[in-house]
This record gives sequence, structure tokens and C-alpha cells, in this order.
Amino acid sequence: MPVLVFGSINLDLTVRVPRLPGPGETALGAGGLGTAAGGKGANQALAAGRAGGGQVRLVGCVGRDGFAGPALALLDAEGVDISRVRRTAAPTGVALIAVSDAGENQIAVASGANADLRADAVPEDWLTPDTVLSLTLEAPPAEVLALARRAGPLGCRIVLNAAPALPVPGELLDLLAVLIVNRHEAPVVAAEAGLGNLAPADAARALSRGRAAAVIVTLGAEGALAFRGAEAWRVPALKLDRVVDTTGAGDAFAGALAAALELGMGWTDALARASAAGGLACTKQGAQPALPRAQEIDAALARLGPVVRIDAN
Ligand code: RIB
Repeated sequence: MPVLVFGSINLDLTVRVPRLPGPGETALGAGGLGTAAGGKGANQALAAGRAGGGQVRLVGCVGRDGFAGPALALLDAEGVDISRVRRTAAPTGVALIAVSDAGENQIAVASGANADLRADAVPEDWLTPDTVLSLTLEAPPAEVLALARRAGPLGCRIVLNAAPALPVPGELLDLLAVLIVNRHEAPVVAAEAGLGNLAPADAARALSRGRAAAVIVTLGAEGALAFRGAEAWRVPALKLDRVVDTTGAGDAFAGALAAALELGMGWTDALARASAAGGLACTKQGAQPALPRAQEIDAALARLGPVVRIDAN
């Protein structure tokens, strides 16, 4: 059963600063520039592979420049199938990232070659009923919808991490098995769906009503909430001694969830593994270098509290 990721590939250029700059402000970082592989699609593919997902495939685009190699190196080394990553005339995607002493980040992305990604780059025989298809909104949203339109009727389980915060058309929401949003994304998606201005948890709850999709809202150190039909769960966060860098934590969560679903794990086990993976990703610097492996996730689960059923209302 494969995990198929259709998404972005970036090279992350990171500066550590005491605190994140505001508009018009310059923040001075004492150290050097950090360079690491990133991009939400690529991160989620590697996260799924490291979390124990069997076969992981990534469909994406990079440029023909010097950034493409380092952006793909870990994926290639760790067995993610990148045979459908296309080289285009545009430059490889780049993310400019500032990370504060508290581990919070601020990210601006130059999409570059990611904008060349097209749904028809995914071969038909990769869209099977045992495929977990992972999508994010760093890929061109129209292509994300076009791929979901093909994959849904073919029986793929589609997981959308609606990141970065962009509106999601109702048609796409209706094709999903799982929607993952964070506290910034949930209100944006709910507002676009005509549900009004809602707080993150209320937005996730409202988005799940009348839809087949389970909706998960991640809440950082407060864990996550999951809503599915008439059921709801509170998912604890891993308690961390120190948050080094939150970059890629959402990708670790989404990738580990996709891997768990692909492995046929139960829903609450999948939620627990995703939360543990997201927490662990905050304990190291960078996106892909910090993504945890299955053994680390297994060990962390012993420290994670239980996923508990809560009142869905
Ligand atoms: O989610 C983290 C990722 O967002 C980074 O790796 C960066 O490339 C941006 O895409």
C-alpha cells in the first residue's frame, strides 16, 4: 500500500534570530545561514517514509540549478521514489525561514519550479484503492483539485494538509478522507466554506459536520482535536524540555498520519503517532533533518498521554 505525495520541494535557507522580526524590522542572527531540504510535500514524503510507511512516492518539480540536488538528497538516500520529480526551466523552490530562540518560525516561499507541478504528472496506475494520497496547498491549488478529482473516484484515501492557509473549494473538501489544519488554517478554510468567522476548534468541528472527511486541527503545545462524524477526540502533545525549531512539525504530523493509515493502524493509534512525530520534529533544527524515525516515535508514545474521546459538540 503506497503513500503518494503530490507536492512542493524546496531548499530551506534558515537564520536563527533572538525574536522574529515585525513588518519593516531587521532581525540580526548571530550564527551562519542554515541550509536544509524542505518543502511541505517533500517533508511529508520523508516523514511518511521515516515513520514506517512502506512505499512512498513523491511527484513534484525542481529546477536545473544547484539547489535541486540538496533539496532531493535525503529523499533519494532514504528510498522515497522520486522518479516522477520533473526538472523544469524555473528555479528550485526556496523557503526563507527565520527561527526565534523560542523555536517559532516565519516562512516566505519562492515557489519557483513548484508552480510547474501538474496533476497529469501522476500516472493513472499510481491511483489505486490502497493508495493514501497526501496533498498540501504549496502545490498549485487548481492542480491539487484536478488530482483529487481523478483520485477520489479511483478509491484513493485523500489526506489534505491545507497549508499554507488558503481557501479550499467545497468540491475538494468533499473528496477528502482527512483534512488537517492548524490554528491559522482552520478559520480560513471554514470561512471559505461559508461557515463564518470561527475559532480554530469550532471551525474544525463545523467543517466535519455533514462531510465524510475527518477533520484534525493541530494546536501546537496544546495537542490536537479530531472530529469525525458524531465523534471527537482530544490528542495530547508530547511534553518537550526545549523547543528548538517548529519548522516541519506539521509535516511530521501529516506524514506520520499518512504512514499509519497506509499501515492500516486504527484511528486513535494513527493520531497518537502523528502527534508524537510532530512533537519530536520540534526538538531538532531544520525541517527534513528533524523528522523522526519509527523507533523514535515508538519510544515517544510511552511518554504521550492517551487519545481520549470527547463530546463532539
Ligand atoms: O512546513 C515547513 C516547510 O514550509 C519548510 O520546509 C519550507 O520549505 C516551507 O515549505
